[in-house]
Amino acid sequence: MDVTDILKAYSEDVDKEIREALSTLEPESLHDSSAHLIKAGGKKFRPALTVLSCQAVGGDTDKALKTAASLELIHTFSLIHDDLMDNDDTRRGMPAVHKKWGDALAILAGDTLFAKAYETIIKTADENIPYERVIDALRVLVDSCIKICEGQALDMAFEDTFEVTKDEYMNMIYKKTGALITGATTAGAIIGGANSLQIEALRIYGRKVGLAFQIQDDYIDLTGDESIGKPVGSDLVEGKKTLMVIYALEKANSDDRARLVELLEANDESIIPEAMDLLNKYGAITYARNVAYDCVIEAKSALAVLPDSDAKEALFKLADFVFSRKA
Ligand code: IPE
Ligand code: IPE
Ligand code: MG
Ligand code: MG
Ligand code: MG
Repeated sequence: MDVTDILKAYSEDVDKEIREALSTLEPESLHDSSAHLIKAGGKKFRPALTVLSCQAVGGDTDKALKTAASLELIHTFSLIHDDLMDNDDTRRGMPAVHKKWGDALAILAGDTLFAKAYETIIKTADENIPYERVIDALRVLVDSCIKICEGQALDMAFEDTFEVTKDEYMNMIYKKTGALITGATTAGAIIGGANSLQIEALRIYGRKVGLAFQIQDDYIDLTGDESIGKPVGSDLVEGKKTLMVIYALEKANSDDRARLVELLEANDESIIPEAMDLLNKYGAITYARNVAYDCVIEAKSALAVLPDSDAKEALFKLADFVFSRKA
């Protein structure tokens, strides 16, 4: 199976689960704003990780679907609020929820998906899965959500400083993005009945894949085109401290550093080409790609303790996809 098929395999089942969960919402404005990004699509990367992690430890696919849907609900909630925070107008090729319904309804739609995620995973308990596994998976999701909020707060705090280190960046992206991807693999493994060694392997895989995923996201923000479905260059305009920016600030001579600081403070789209040139001049883009690549290698080696299976192969392919994806 190629990556497109791997990602598609459970996408419809997950969508169905989510649409059902949202179907009774009223009023219509809350229903439509909550369902908007679900209808718009998305790669369904996290639900695929959940189902495959469950399968990779010998678990039943059907039993992981609600947990997978719950991961996608949390992800979508975080996107709605993220677009508000990042001042971005498009998502998944559509207007962002706050653009279409306003800030207040975007906050509510996000809150609704957040709560629906818990409602959905709790329903797993009706599917003959031991109670302790459901509670353990729930614990993982709760932990991921707290970390997302911490990571997003750090991401915003870093907009106002030029003193961010690589370690601080890695901690921030682990929290805002890596924690949910780790949650996806770990919760899938738990629902599938994994032993502690297997859970740990999938946790490390999730962590490394998650780090590479965000470094690649930052790279796509700089180098992509409208096919990414969200604004290009937005991170530079918002003054985000990506690994590429951190590296260039560290390596640049004092004139170039001062100029880059000025550009990042301008809050204007016209700075994008010149800022890009400075990042390239100091090899910042190549550097960040190398860091992402190393994370992918480490992710794959963490899976050595799992028995060979189609699911394990698919997890290898998804790790490679994180580095090669263009959207
Ligand atoms: C975007 O996630 C937000 C990040 C955590 C980087 P995805 O790239 O998985 O977005 P969709 O779900 O495919 O739209
Ligand atoms: C996303 O980081 C993190 C979360 C949604 C929690 P970004 O802000 O880089 O994601 P995009 O690029 O808007 O999708
Ligand atoms: Mg954003
Ligand atoms: Mg953001
Ligand atoms: Mg981004």
